[in-house]
Amino acid sequence: MEKEIKNLREQFKKSLAALKTRKELLIIENEYTGRKGIVAQMLKRITSLTPEERPRAGQLLNQIKKEFQDALIKKEKEFSQEGCREEEYIDITFPGQNFIQGTIHPVELILKATEDIFLGMGFTIVDGPEIELDYYNFEALNIPKDHPARDVQDSFYVTPDILLRTQTSPMQVRTMENQSPPVRIISAGKCYRRDSIDNTHTPMFHQIEGLAVDEDISLADLKGVITEFCKQIFGKDRIIRFRPGYFPFVEPGAEVDVSCGLCHGKGCSSCGNSGWLEIMGAGMVHPHVLEMVGYDAEKYTGFAFGMGAERIAMLKYGINDIRLFFENDIRFLTQFK
Ligand code: DAH
Repeated sequence: MEKEIKNLREQFKKSLAALKTRKELLIIENEYTGRKGIVAQMLKRITSLTPEERPRAGQLLNQIKKEFQDALIKKEKEFSQEGCREEEYIDITFPGQNFIQGTIHPVELILKATEDIFLGMGFTIVDGPEIELDYYNFEALNIPKDHPARDVQDSFYVTPDILLRTQTSPMQVRTMENQSPPVRIISAGKCYRRDSIDNTHTPMFHQIEGLAVDEDISLADLKGVITEFCKQIFGKDRIIRFRPGYFPFVEPGAEVDVSCGLCHGKGCSSCGNSGWLEIMGAGMVHPHVLEMVGYDAEKYTGFAFGMGAERIAMLKYGINDIRLFFENDIRFLTQFK
């Protein structure tokens, strides 16, 4: 067997020298040192040798196997260095690669713009939980268990007392519980309702809530603040109007409309011929809500408002289907820079 091993070494050297590609290297590796390769087969044959011959043959075979493996590793390294050199070659005259920069989501643009506008008017930003207690979402906002106002805000319930918030209004209560007047906050975030999906409804959407409580706050303050917001977000020529509206946690309550930017109030197809576009609910904080958080309702008054961020984005950018915000179509998203 010693002779055979000697020949094998010669044969291997020749094969190694003739080798040109990585692929060939793998074939040779398999052929010589693989599990069913020549060396393995010779090792098996040791049992047919005499007991005196066996140790020497075993030693030689293991030695040659190691030799082959080392040689193959060395060759592999040579290959990868050559490859590396090729890959590292930089042609500095070549035009640079295009860097694709993402764009900010239109809803995020509205949230940030709104926060900036209200920060400019002295409001501060607060954040609250999306998983909310029934108490904050409804009860403390004058919406007890049997109140019909719950019907239009069906939620996803975690337990009978814990739900995904249907509005950002619970942040009014959470803020007032932690702070005494004066209060001026806005709070934006996700809300959830068990609504069927159509071009104006999605089960998850964003709201922006505002609250101001102090001595002598009046409806005039609310009108002034909302007018300023509308002018900054939609344009200087816009005006607003208040229509009576019912929300259990404000009294009086109002639906706020902004004049249509296309027809300037004359009436066109985009505003349903009314000249106005509904943008938010608002009103003077109900004395009962103030009392529930321990505020003196004789001394303090306040206003509150709440709006859908998607709705504002739809009106500002002329989008007619809310689903577009959540389909993540890059052709839609990259239009908002
Ligand atoms: N949370 C109300 C809703 O989702 C909107 C709203 C109305 C918020 C009046 C207010 C408000 O703060 O004063 O329908």
